Amino acid sequence: MNATQGWLAVAAVEEVNGKTPRAVSAGGFDFALFRDRDGVARALQNRCPHRRVPLTLGKIIDGAIRCAYHGWTFDGGSGACIDVPNLSEAERVPPSFCVPAYPVAEHQGFVFVWAGEGEPGLLPPLAAQVDARLELETYGSGVAALGVDHYRDLLFDGPEVVFDIPGVRFTDFYLGDVRVIGDRLVIDREAEWGLASKPADIKLVDRPLVLRTEQIIGSGNVLFTLLDANEDVLASLTLAFAAGRRGTTSYCWRYRRYTGFNRQQPGKYRLLARGRAPVEVFEKLDGSAVAATLVGPSADLSLQPEWKIPLREEEMAL
Ligand code: FES
Repeated sequence: MNATQGWLAVAAVEEVNGKTPRAVSAGGFDFALFRDRDGVARALQNRCPHRRVPLTLGKIIDGAIRCAYHGWTFDGGSGACIDVPNLSEAERVPPSFCVPAYPVAEHQGFVFVWAGEGEPGLLPPLAAQVDARLELETYGSGVAALGVDHYRDLLFDGPEVVFDIPGVRFTDFYLGDVRVIGDRLVIDREAEWGLASKPADIKLVDRPLVLRTEQIIGSGNVLFTLLDANEDVLASLTLAFAAGRRGTTSYCWRYRRYTGFNRQQPGKYRLLARGRAPVEVFEKLDGSAVAATLVGPSADLSLQPEWKIPLREEEMAL
């Protein structure tokens, strides 16, 4: 099975609205995302069946999406064309004027689109942590100019190339083995308070933090958790990714920081991080840094085809 199957996280819930349609290419599909009049998130194939124009160039009118070219308007739930501007009063819109509509669900802060066949299955348990200690939450999405398999490998081999939590430095001095725990691959690596731009000292020191990486097997859903020495969660980044167009990787993410983070972070790093975003997920990857990343856990992963992200064979073409 080469087609991406199952639920795809395509955006943070806040990124989909009833004013501006959002284009996302993920897993071999082009989606037009928007909210209808009731605020329900909708996903249609982002291609007008009339002349193949992306629907996201159009507008949302009364909760339906209107193509920018000739004004055909589509219902987000069914994909049916509900208005063709130049029809006479006696004419009806033929039922064949429709666009594929995909099941949509909102789950743990993400908009998921069902990209499989048949009835939607269970939503993936991302296990994002939300509790009373939550201090801050933020989100985003982007497209990285790197193929999806390389992107996934990078998350395991060099997460510092993909994202930065100001005042936290990940290191490879201790790097655990890849473990299979339930439905996910898990790997721990050392982290410490510090600046990512400065390499960690090469000496035997106890580093107080752990960055745990968990990938739900066979999916593009990865959860990074920053833990203290007692394994209390200080922060978590849920990052969902899938093959984008032309060899790129589309991703969306949600970051949560908990009260222990500020309490434990040394003041000098808190000061240095002041004025910066609480997390930065890099859309522009540093090619030199990507190339310099040593092959680590991904060497194990590449031996296991079932751990790979399924790709869709057919190319998307405009
Ligand atoms: S291309 Fe969309 S209405 Fe003609």
